[in-house]
Amino acid sequence: MENDKIIAVVGATGAQGGGLVRAILNDPKGGFKVRAITRNPSSDKAQKLKDMGAEVVKADIDDKQSVIKAFEGAYGAYCMTNFWEHLSPEKEMQQAKNMAEAGKEAGLQHIMWSTLEDTRKWIPLDDDRMPTLMEKYKVPHFDAKGEADEYFVESKVPYTLLFTSFYWDNFIIFGIGPKEGEDGELAITFPMNNKQLPGIAAEDIGKCAYAIFKAGDTYKNKIVAIAGEHLTCKEMADIFSEVYGKKVKCNAVEPDVYRSFDFPGAEEFGNMFQFKAEEEEYFCTIRDINATRKLNPELLNFRQWLEKNKDKLEV
Ligand SMILES: NC(=O)c1ccc[n+]([C@@H]2O[C@H](COP(=O)([O-])OP(=O)(O)OC[C@H]3O[C@@H](n4cnc5c(N)ncnc54)[C@H](OP(=O)(O)O)[C@@H]3O)[C@@H](O)[C@H]2O)c1
Repeated sequence: MENDKIIAVVGATGAQGGGLVRAILNDPKGGFKVRAITRNPSSDKAQKLKDMGAEVVKADIDDKQSVIKAFEGAYGAYCMTNFWEHLSPEKEMQQAKNMAEAGKEAGLQHIMWSTLEDTRKWIPLDDDRMPTLMEKYKVPHFDAKGEADEYFVESKVPYTLLFTSFYWDNFIIFGIGPKEGEDGELAITFPMNNKQLPGIAAEDIGKCAYAIFKAGDTYKNKIVAIAGEHLTCKEMADIFSEVYGKKVKCNAVEPDVYRSFDFPGAEEFGNMFQFKAEEEEYFCTIRDINATRKLNPELLNFRQWLEKNKDKLEV
């Protein structure tokens, strides 16, 4: 519709932003239309979004001018960064700053920043419970996002800081699903003992973001933290067992052991899970499931997500 408000979506071809694009397109009478931002409008993913009805616009969050142009005329913008593409917290912060400043220059009425906690507020650098990484961080991809919150707050554009959760899709994307151990038994491995891990279906992040935009002023200048379910490693293992009909157990290793594993990012993930375990009460309480379900009544729990994605994992 002519007067529909435009939401510009950074990361439209990815998991978080893609969920938001689909949520907007699936609600044609909702009063919003979507502008999908990508560095490569001719990619298959971008073309698919175009075929579904999205406006596709080229911009690069390393180039502020391109983001200002892409945000112009929009009501709101969803801002995210992909740490895993460059592994640089400094670059991630600069990208966030570019988006926050572009939001101001483009005169947006609502800017949403997909963020995570700056873990150093809980575990200062001189705290030797976990190693300091890259000289300045405990969990670089968390700390950089959290440090960048201030750019959005300072922009004076009405903002929502959206605190996300561990995607269950990681079981597929990062290959951390059940594996046969030396004892021949299937297990998932987390260094969190009996502490709960808030998780979410990646697609649900975009659905929640859309509800926040739709709610007008309600969530402006606020923090919203979302999750689909809080589960211990054993509870996730039990659900794996039931869904696949094969016994899956939890391999609850210590964070130091996890950090020593031989895969890229093991140290960072070890620190991340240790932070979540040690700050379980804060980390779970802020990610309120009922409040998340109010935003997104289609919110999946882990069992529902696993049943839906059963064939994508070899167990
Ligand atoms: N996995 C988890 O459990 C989890 C949980 C919470 C938060 N996160 C965070 O989520 C982020 C990744 O999000 P995702 O899973 O949605 O990523 P994804 O599916 O890998 O997609 C990455 C998206 O970022 C866009 N992008 C990257 N660099 C860009 C640039 N310079 N300019 C414009 N667009 C750019 C890409 O667009 P084009 O390639 O089309 O340009 C693509 O749409 C990470 O920072 C991670 O820390 C992950």
